[in-house]
Amino acid sequence: MDYYAHTVQIALFALLVALILRRRWDSIHSIPTIGYSLPLLSYHSAFKFLRNARQSVEEGYARHKVFKIATLDRWMVFVCGPEMNDELCKLPEDVASFEEAVQEWIYAEYSFGAPEYNLTIPAIHGLLVRNLPDVIPHVVDEIGLVFEELFPQEYWVELTNLPNFMSNLAARIVNRVFVGAPICREPEYLRTVTTYATDVIKTKVILDLIPKPLKPLIGNMLPWRARATRLLKHYLSADIADRQMRLDESSCKDKPDDFLMWLAKAARDSGGSMESILTSILMVNFAAIHTSSVTVTSTLFQIASQPEYIAILREDILDAIKAEGWTRGSVNSMGKLDSFIKETQRWQGSGIGTLPSQVLKTVTFSDGTIVPAGVHVHAAQAATYRDSTVYEDADTFKPFRFSEKREQTGQSTRHQFVSTSPEYLIFGHGKHACPGRFFAAIVIKIFLAHLLLRYDVKMGGDGSLPENVTIGTSTILSSKAKVLFRRRQFAHA
Ligand code: HEM
Repeated sequence: MDYYAHTVQIALFALLVALILRRRWDSIHSIPTIGYSLPLLSYHSAFKFLRNARQSVEEGYARHKVFKIATLDRWMVFVCGPEMNDELCKLPEDVASFEEAVQEWIYAEYSFGAPEYNLTIPAIHGLLVRNLPDVIPHVVDEIGLVFEELFPQEYWVELTNLPNFMSNLAARIVNRVFVGAPICREPEYLRTVTTYATDVIKTKVILDLIPKPLKPLIGNMLPWRARATRLLKHYLSADIADRQMRLDESSCKDKPDDFLMWLAKAARDSGGSMESILTSILMVNFAAIHTSSVTVTSTLFQIASQPEYIAILREDILDAIKAEGWTRGSVNSMGKLDSFIKETQRWQGSGIGTLPSQVLKTVTFSDGTIVPAGVHVHAAQAATYRDSTVYEDADTFKPFRFSEKREQTGQSTRHQFVSTSPEYLIFGHGKHACPGRFFAAIVIKIFLAHLLLRYDVKMGGDGSLPENVTIGTSTILSSKAKVLFRRRQFAHA
């Protein structure tokens, strides 16, 4: 027992020293600080940031265009407001790099492999942007099955731990498109792709503690990536080999046009192997599942706590599908549902910072602030959403704020959920804006539309919106909130 306690003490001490050494103290003094900037006192601010990042960032946003906050292992620099967000987005990749920031944040090289074999983005552009209408019938079919199999059929039934439940549903639905049926329903496959996010965090915690020269050695020894790709190989290698073989067939008849085919094509064009295709499957799941399920769950909490909007949303959905059923056009024209989802993300403001960028060459922002190389800069997303100079009545939830704007002449596309701008950063903005957002929006809207047409929904307990928990910049949706569902007698869809 003594030995155990001693080991824990040494590990904690090593962690503290590693964190202190990682934080840079030089050449960053001129950037205004929220909290303390003196070495030891700054840890007081870092712990405050861990508990209440939202308040610290809002304080900085109210006072500065650019400011810094101490976290346990680094200084985080935030830029404030749409103009500064735009400046950050427009910095060239060799000056402020998204890829380097992500690499350092999740150690992408060890969690997902060498970036030169990233086949995900070309495959997303090929199938999930250009050929999105072809994908919709599969999404509708899988969502229909999910409701029949996994949702209550009568009376009011309470579902708990909705974030977890939705994460499993999101995994199944997006994988209907990524890898097809029946693999998208295999429990072992789904467990692997949904829990890989936790493996990425484990990789991060370990590599954060390791000195830089040893990271490649240790990073390549960590077991999780190899274990997950082995399992994916078991389920997918035959289908991938089939796509690779049929790539060069001259006849287009019966040639599958699915996500695996697009990955196989991207692999052939860039010299990637079967291994790189499997890693891309892991990566696309990592990008898609958590983000989509958080968006659905937060919107569902909002709907359930304000059920007075359900009738308006149902009418919007029925109007859209009555002429042509579930198509890209009809889903796009669900303007009120689109606005409700978009406003929920603005109002709940779950992402405190976004547009992660690592400065590679010293940057001078337009307000004169100089940010040296090596520093991580973010846009103060949640604070932008509560800025009354950017959003009228910023502190009020106005579900149809964006659909009303879209009704004005010339504004029909600008305020869609998928439209990014320096004011609205849920999907990022600029050169790295989320390429999967069109697919994500279609899945989220079809899911919520089916739910509203088939079910009555209300919040349990006192009926109020559940409170999210924030740890540092991460927001965690309540797993204790109770939402009740009752199948409607004359359900549509
Ligand atoms: C509601 C769901 C989603 C949200 C909120 C979301 C959000 C984001 C954000 C904030 C970024 C970073 C952009 C930046 O910083 O400028 C991003 C990047 C990315 N997302 Fe999404 N995403 C979602 C769904 C998806 C889906 C379904 C896919 C795949 C089909 C996907 C694939 C990607 C990829 C590959 C990138 C990296 C882009 C690059 O490196 O240039 N995302 N996403």
